[in-house]
Amino acid sequence: METIKQNQTAEALKWRYATKVFDKTKKLSEEQLQLLKQAVQLAPSSYGLQPYQVLIVSNPEIKEKLKEAAFGQSQLTDASHIFVFARTHNFTEKHVDEYAINIAETRGIDVADIKGFVDVMKGTVNSRSQDELANWNAKQAYIALGVLLETAALHEIDACLMEGFNNAHFDGILGLADRNLTSVVIASVGFRSSDDGYQNLNKVRKSDGDLFIHI
Ligand SMILES: Cc1cc2nc3c(=O)[nH]c(=O)nc-3n(C[C@H](O)[C@H](O)[C@H](O)COP(=O)(O)O)c2cc1C
Repeated sequence: METIKQNQTAEALKWRYATKVFDKTKKLSEEQLQLLKQAVQLAPSSYGLQPYQVLIVSNPEIKEKLKEAAFGQSQLTDASHIFVFARTHNFTEKHVDEYAINIAETRGIDVADIKGFVDVMKGTVNSRSQDELANWNAKQAYIALGVLLETAALHEIDACLMEGFNNAHFDGILGLADRNLTSVVIASVGFRSSDDGYQNLNKVRKSDGDLFIHI
């Protein structure tokens, strides 16, 4: 595996910022889109269940509607693509069974061989209320969101992670209920405009001493 140099990584993490003004003339190439999709696909999740799906919106009319549901934030229309992370709404044993089949097919084994693991997963799912599962599923989606963000930064692709939108409106616009999904968080992805003053601001973060506790 080719190693990315430590200083390159640090530079990329400092280079990235929550982009407020995107250059609407710049679009992700097919290769860049595939890279970001792969990053999301390879993100880890609890047990590997991936209790979410990601809608990727590039249609200008839909983006316009999403902008209205996101308090007019221009990233929704001006970014190249909007990744909408949506958690599985009703999460049941059926989803565990689907995952078990995927494991068995991918690894060339029988579902019966992983019965113990499947039972543990079902035990977890059945011991939680739908509210607890909603919270759990949303947390898994945030991990994939983070992987997307850092992958984008390493490849000089800009992004703005956003919770500032009306989830119910998004769900309606995107028809998420029919897919048993609920929107959680979004990433507007594309390329910064040189007009965006935010890119010149120093990063405000907790100091090393305030953030890390070595014991
Ligand atoms: C979960 C989450 C939700 C956010 N929601 C919004 C948003 O709705 N609109 C926005 O402009 N920025 C949003 N941000 C960006 C944050 O304000 C920004 O990441 C933070 O101030 C740190 O700045 P930096 O990312 O430029 O380093 C969000 C960030 C995160 C992680």
